[in-house]
Amino acid sequence: MKDAAPQAIHLSAYTPPAYLVDSVALTFRLHPTATRVLSTVRFRPNPAHPEPGDLRLDGEGLMLMAAAIDGAPVAATPDASGVTIPAGLLPGGAFEWTAEVEIAPQANTALEGLYMSNGMYCTQCEAEGFRKITFYPDRPDVMAPFRVRIESDLPLLMSNGNPVDAGWAEWDDPHPKPSYLFALVAGDLVAHRDRFTTRSGRDVALNIWVRPGDEGRCAFAMEALKRSMHWDEEVYAREYDLDIFNIVAVDDFNMGAMENKGLNIFNSKFVLAAPETATDADFERIEAIIAHEYFHNWTGNRITCRDWFQLSLKEGLTVFRDQQFSGDMRSHAVKRIEDVLNLRARQFREDDGPLAHPVRPASYVEINNFYTATVYEKGAELIRMLHLLVGSEGYKAALDLYFDRHDGQACTIEDWLRVFEDATGRDLAQFKRWYEQAGTPRLAVAEDWDGTTYTLTLRQHTPPTPGQPEKTPVPIPVSVGLLSQDGGELRATTVLELTAAEQSFAFEGLPQRPIPSILRGFSAPVILERASTAAERAFLLAHDTDPFNKFEAGRALARDVLTGMITDGAAPGPDHLDALARMLRDDGLDPAFRALALGLPSEDNMAQSLHDAGAEPDPAAIHAARERLTREMAAHLEPVLDALYTDMAQPGPFSPAPRAAGCRALRLAALRLLARVDDGARAERLFGEADNMTEQLGALAALLEIGAGEAAAAAFYRQWRGDRLVLDKWFALQIARAAPERAVALTRALTGHADFDWRNPNRFRAVIGALPANAAGFHDPSGSGYRLVADWLIRLDPLNPQTAARMSTAFDTWRRYGPQRQALMRAELERIRATDGLSRDMGEMVGRMLD
Ligand code: BES
Ligand code: ZN
Repeated sequence: MKDAAPQAIHLSAYTPPAYLVDSVALTFRLHPTATRVLSTVRFRPNPAHPEPGDLRLDGEGLMLMAAAIDGAPVAATPDASGVTIPAGLLPGGAFEWTAEVEIAPQANTALEGLYMSNGMYCTQCEAEGFRKITFYPDRPDVMAPFRVRIESDLPLLMSNGNPVDAGWAEWDDPHPKPSYLFALVAGDLVAHRDRFTTRSGRDVALNIWVRPGDEGRCAFAMEALKRSMHWDEEVYAREYDLDIFNIVAVDDFNMGAMENKGLNIFNSKFVLAAPETATDADFERIEAIIAHEYFHNWTGNRITCRDWFQLSLKEGLTVFRDQQFSGDMRSHAVKRIEDVLNLRARQFREDDGPLAHPVRPASYVEINNFYTATVYEKGAELIRMLHLLVGSEGYKAALDLYFDRHDGQACTIEDWLRVFEDATGRDLAQFKRWYEQAGTPRLAVAEDWDGTTYTLTLRQHTPPTPGQPEKTPVPIPVSVGLLSQDGGELRATTVLELTAAEQSFAFEGLPQRPIPSILRGFSAPVILERASTAAERAFLLAHDTDPFNKFEAGRALARDVLTGMITDGAAPGPDHLDALARMLRDDGLDPAFRALALGLPSEDNMAQSLHDAGAEPDPAAIHAARERLTREMAAHLEPVLDALYTDMAQPGPFSPAPRAAGCRALRLAALRLLARVDDGARAERLFGEADNMTEQLGALAALLEIGAGEAAAAAFYRQWRGDRLVLDKWFALQIARAAPERAVALTRALTGHADFDWRNPNRFRAVIGALPANAAGFHDPSGSGYRLVADWLIRLDPLNPQTAARMSTAFDTWRRYGPQRQALMRAELERIRATDGLSRDMGEMVGRMLD
């Protein structure tokens, strides 16, 4: 028998908490199978609540040993989701709840609540994991100071806040926080230590805690942390507010990292880095995630969310902040291009399918399913648009007001928009639609030229999304520049504000018909629909002064060529290749930019754009066309690629600095193409000589892509079999770069490998998650790819529903494809749905994808 469908939670049903908490004291007696958690919680009726009534506490999977109110034992019988103390047993005013519960961290495979990883205890409480630790009002609008005592023989014991005693067995966090920010760590760990002095003179101890043996791989993360702390003081005037900041690396973690107050917990892959084991992309990601979690201290912790519908309040804002930081550390142009590629790959895909939802959803069944690209990346885009609309000064005034007005509070999107209105005088009523309306707006452009006046007519249209058949216009800031025929600027960038369904904007007194550069910097998260010629795109690739649109012109050129090859069997023409050659030879261009501009749209991207144009994408045909174009590029560009391969080599010891990383990116992009004309000779050589993971892995990728990577992959395994993080790369790369007809069999073989520990989320993602990344392999017409992934999701779901449910998004594009693939994918989704004991997480995901 299947359980009744779980209830959805609605934003409209929000009510304030009945009881507030003045203080929390916790004692943990740690034991792998029988940990005791003693809690003392001081409650008081919420004056903002009309009738507090019964005390309801959340709690899941807890064995309640004893409970008391003001010291008098109460007989409380928990149900599946918590416990209720009838109002009649409460004194009327403030009171103290005490309880003792027993839990079994070693049996916790879901990695939510208190669990164990390699003999170490750790916690993950966001969003609703604290209820698996003890009974408590586990909601973010209940904030309280915490005091925590840990009893264990393990040498290192930590919780949030400052240590109370020299032995660190007791911790005090004076900053009121919601339960989702609670953390505890106990284990045998070693520290990489440093210090930071805040600008007001507070001396802060900084520690990164890792397993013995990993301490030599922490230096980069520590430098990134200090740069983040400094940056937040300089740019947002935000200082750290405790005497100590601890970061812990754990190997078993569902997500990337978590911002627990004063005690950030990280997936070890986003902390540990050495030149031999981490790629340039890893270094960049570590820097961004360290910054992101640190920045949450103000945008998330000091000011948190009223409820989980407001998640983008902290996540969208903090992503925007980490994007600004990375841009300042590296290159704004390159960072913007990377962010937009990521947005299109993940968020546009989500917005265009059955999982589309607003940045602020109106309902959910399982909140873990809403940590999405929409809440995060589209949420960050909305803040970027606000920044553009009100300007740097307005943004700064609004943020100062936000911190000033809301410090210590649990807030809403309304609070957020109001500070912009109050600080700048702008009415944001229409802007709020961006938070409430799902779907990616299409922006169509028509042009008129009468000899002196150039008129742009902009039209917006958002396709229907689940539950939202009708859309209303949103305000779209459209950055536009006008170029002259010889490549000069006729008009500098101006921001057109499209607020209606259709509007015209005139540029008067022009000496010649301009070439427009529209949506500069990708000024809004929309799909620009504007047919253009190859000649115009090549012109913009050569002359646009806006780096994003320069990149975009090249990307659109490649997309048009690929579309022609796929739909009409057209041969790739010389325009695109000649334009690329010119771009590559321009030494004034940042190598990192050139590496990106040399890239082709991904196969999934092509499927998305073909579907958008009303065609039925065939992953095999897309793969074949992309491979053919890659070979044409290699043949046509060989001389310039060869020169770049030599010139971009980095002398001296490895440095992860942006400039050197950019040169390596361009060199490896050249290598991938050159492998098609030299049978992998250069890649073989580099694979043997490389002293860093970026080049070693880049060379292996090039070899795998041409089907000549077997020996190198075996050698790589022999070299790195003892290193869990590098081994993840080994698993993932082989599958992602396998020829489509081999990908499923290879994945199946690797699931039988002795090192395939499927209970470890990183390893599971490295193997099972790599197959959908190989689009043509996953979409094998036999359906074997779908079956393999579904089998493993069904197997993982009872152990770790959060990770299993996240990975089910591999199937969210099923309606894009032809009838045979649709039927096969749909059948797998139905099979998952029919599984006995399916988790709420997975049940919601497959339900949304099917209905
Ligand atoms: N608060 C999240 C971590 C989180 C998400 C915990 C969902 C539990 C459930 C954290 O701040 C975060 O956003 N982490 C990201 C990385 C970040 C750089 C976008 C992650 O873990 O992927
Ligand atoms: Zn976050």
